[in-house]
Amino acid sequence: MPPTAKTVPRHIAIIMDGNGRWAKTRGLPRIKGHEAGAQAVRECVEGCGDLKVQYLTLYAFSAENWQRPKSEVFALMRLLENFLKEKTPELVEKNVRLQAIGRLTDLPQSSQKQLHKTIEQTAGNNGLTLILALSYGGRLEIIDGIKSLLRAVELGHIDKGMIDVEMFSKHLYTRYYPDPDLLIRTSGEMRLSNFLLWQLSYTEMYVTPKLWPDFTKKDLFAAVEEFGQRQRRYGAVE
Ligand code: FPP
Repeated sequence: MPPTAKTVPRHIAIIMDGNGRWAKTRGLPRIKGHEAGAQAVRECVEGCGDLKVQYLTLYAFSAENWQRPKSEVFALMRLLENFLKEKTPELVEKNVRLQAIGRLTDLPQSSQKQLHKTIEQTAGNNGLTLILALSYGGRLEIIDGIKSLLRAVELGHIDKGMIDVEMFSKHLYTRYYPDPDLLIRTSGEMRLSNFLLWQLSYTEMYVTPKLWPDFTKKDLFAAVEEFGQRQRRYGAVE
């Protein structure tokens, strides 16, 4: 049962951590942890649908993850591709719209192709927007945002005196989405790991010791319940 919380976050962002540890404790190769993680993604998307959350951003592959062994990177890309291929009909049926942020051109051609195919096939959906962060780094995004702003100034589209928080936000990968209301991180680590550095300024954080493959709908609902108890003041007094 979804929680009866009065306040459901409009946008949830998740750092899905602990796939490797999940596999290790079972004596399995790391990729088995990622495969189990993909199942948890499916359940989480369904849970967000039940809750009528509007946006869900998942940190699926960071800019730093390219430093992992080639075999793990390859397996993760193949998993992503297969997941998208296999789940597109379900995303369409559940009215989920897929989007992606990050340096997407870094991805292998076949992954880019499948990603854009699923984005196109789900473009008409108006339920949950599922945003995958792929080859994503918060600092890189800010640098790309600055470059984009400089270009706009050079072209005379804007005057540099007009630059403010709102305008800068419009030059980030996330320009089409509101900032996350709730950030969930699994596996107990208290770090942002270069995720949505600009956008998380006033986001409520929820850290659970559960490893990502063990994260269920029930855990999602518990996080949303707790979010409902928080008082957000955005730096002001009550
Ligand atoms: C972190 O766990 C997880 C990742 C780097 C990849 C996340 C990928 C998935 C959940 C599966 C595929 C995703 C989609 C969208 C189909 P870790 O490997 O850092 O775990 P560890 O810290 O225990 O080693």
